[in-house]
Amino acid sequence: MNRRYRKTIIAGNWKMNKTASETKKFAEELKALLPKAKWCDVVVCVPAVNIPAAIKAFKDVRVSVGAQNLFYEKSGAYTGEVSADMLKDLGVKYVIIGHSERRQYFGETDFTVNKKVHAALDAGLHPIICVGESLEQRELGITMELIALQVKSALAGVSAEKLRKCVIAYEPIWAIGTGKTATAEQAAEVCTFIRTTVRHLYGARIARSITIQYGGSMKPSNAAELLGQPDIDGGLIGGAALNAKDFVEIINAANQE
Ligand code: PGA
Repeated sequence: MNRRYRKTIIAGNWKMNKTASETKKFAEELKALLPKAKWCDVVVCVPAVNIPAAIKAFKDVRVSVGAQNLFYEKSGAYTGEVSADMLKDLGVKYVIIGHSERRQYFGETDFTVNKKVHAALDAGLHPIICVGESLEQRELGITMELIALQVKSALAGVSAEKLRKCVIAYEPIWAIGTGKTATAEQAAEVCTFIRTTVRHLYGARIARSITIQYGGSMKPSNAAELLGQPDIDGGLIGGAALNAKDFVEIINAANQE
């Protein structure tokens, strides 16, 4: 973390978990446990149907609500899809784009990720752009090339002004939901590389101000070490964000000086 130059953001990614009533219950538990002063922004990305319930439940908890996906067209005959304007209108602030599960199960590509990033930014949302390598790609030694490609294609055509609204999440696929966390060194190495890639594209001042999260089995026991790395400015948390106590412990780790 480096709070002088950029925001620390702890975001939960609930994936396809929790009903609207469970959302309300979680918000109450979180409210009781959250520290009074927090130096990080807290976001909970809920399933689309639970967004109205979440907006209501988190209203006085200083927690922003995020979505997990959007479709890039403004409106039209796209059965089952949700647009950026629809999310914005509900009061959503952040939206996860290009999560590896969407790339793996729902055919997302670097190309669609770029279109979604533009749609989010045009609607005034903050995209949390996910990048990350598979185990095979890491073993082949092509992690950095792949990450550079993902970052560059996600940001293609994004102005410096709009980049300020973006968050990048490094999520090694082999560490997601597996209990296998990247070591702090592995995570830091790639997060630093992402910042360098952004510096080459946009210059040092902007690269210094962008929030880069780590995601992949982040939990209370490893959060402090991961967040202690200078280029890791927060976490995108799946499993551990489903439990208010664990989530707050991670927030507390981000609150340390
Ligand atoms: P995990 O998920 O924390 O359960 O590994 C992280 C993510 O997929 O964003």
